Amino acid sequence: MIVKNLSDHLQLITINRPQQLNALNREVIAELHRALSRAEEDPQIRAVILMGSGDKAFIAGADIKEFMHFTPEEGKKLSEEGQRLLFDYVEQMHTPVIAAINGYALGGGLELALASHVRLASERAKMGLPEVSLGVIPGYGGTQRLAQHIGKGRAMEMILTGKMIDARKAYDYGLVGEVVPHEKLLDKAVETAEAIMKNSPAAIGLAIEAINAAYGRDGFKVESELFGKAFATEDFKEGTRAFVERRKPNFTGK
Ligand code: COA
Repeated sequence: MIVKNLSDHLQLITINRPQQLNALNREVIAELHRALSRAEEDPQIRAVILMGSGDKAFIAGADIKEFMHFTPEEGKKLSEEGQRLLFDYVEQMHTPVIAAINGYALGGGLELALASHVRLASERAKMGLPEVSLGVIPGYGGTQRLAQHIGKGRAMEMILTGKMIDARKAYDYGLVGEVVPHEKLLDKAVETAEAIMKNSPAAIGLAIEAINAAYGRDGFKVESELFGKAFATEDFKEGTRAFVERRKPNFTGK
């Protein structure tokens, strides 16, 4: 992870695991938590931009290779810990976080963008929650926040098909605020941050808190339970093994 101050008040955090398309393992989640909590506690920092390193991905999801051998209890814990340290944490920060989606934002990557306060996309961005193709469900708030952003029907379709959508469709769905040419993405994120930073930081924090207050928390607990439950299925073992072996899974529903 690379933390860089773009100005006195604006910080860029780049997730830096390009060979694995910036997949989120526990170490990266812990590092992100530390960097974000430092930004949150630093009164000089008034906005944060999140981006993925390399040309291909924002974040291609949770690290499948890390969790493929987990038990249901470990699966549930992974979801709860991730929510606490990163996804819920980001959503509740008083310092606004802008997700600059510079490529694939899949699974946990899209979930991190959904937890952020603003989403902007490069023309090359592709977004989706493909978990069911691995025999699992989104476990970092995706079943809750996707519907909050784009409505239940579209969220249901995206999650059940597991298909990716391109940046244009994401814009049409209201999932991202703007789509810009790839090389202009960071400039657009900076411009958006500057517009936010002209306003009262205290009021920004309170506005975030008030907007979040409209949404219930029960569904997130249910999601973690069911995410763990998926780890007990043969489909989960088959789906994750098929990903690593680069073949189509053969699901049986067991
Ligand atoms: N977890 C772990 N490793 C991942 C990963 C993930 N979520 N996404 C990509 N990687 C790894 C690949 O295994 C590969 O590693 P290797 O070179 O050691 O084999 C590397 O990143 C490059 O990915 P690759 O699949 O070769 O790139 P691609 O351009 O052919 O395909 C994607 C790109 C994003 C379509 C494909 O990587 C993919 O489907 N990733 C998984 C997405 C997903 O299901 N996310 C949700 C997880 S819950």
